Amino acid sequence: MIQRALFPASAALALAGAAHAANDLTHPEVAQIMAIEADSDYGAYLASECTACHAPNPEGGIPQIHMLPESYIVGALVDYRIGEREHQVMEQIAKRLGEEEIAALAKYFSEAE
Ligand code: HEC
Repeated sequence: MIQRALFPASAALALAGAAHAANDLTHPEVAQIMAIEADSDYGAYLASECTACHAPNPEGGIPQIHMLPESYIVGALVDYRIGEREHQVMEQIAKRLGEEEIAALAKYFSEAE
């Protein structure tokens, strides 16, 4: 009985997990940040905090974020912010960033080689 009652809830959870903001431009927070007129010079200034880990050719399991699509970078940072994607360091960093900062960083990294 209990298991039957729980099943639909866990199925819904699995579905929600598949809809990461990184793949969903219609996610309200992603759409809001994408609507900001991003300043890539500001992004370049902020990026010094990121490039300690995210070098253009990063090593040691750090993903490359240079040249990723802008919307993907925004979505990934939103995912860390809302806990949709878990990673202690990135969650801390993403929660500290404001929306304009995320927009600027995403624009800068999407264009940076
Ligand atoms: C201390 C090292 C460190 C710093 C500093 C750091 N990151 Fe990360 N970042 C990581 C690691 C490790 C991952 C992979 C985490 C995971 O597995 O989800 C990651 C993942 C990401 C991703 C997702 C990449 C993908 O392929 O899905 C983005 C986007 C990102 N970081 C952006 C940033 C930005 C922007 C900054 C600066 C504000 C930053 N990071 C600072 C270590 C770092």
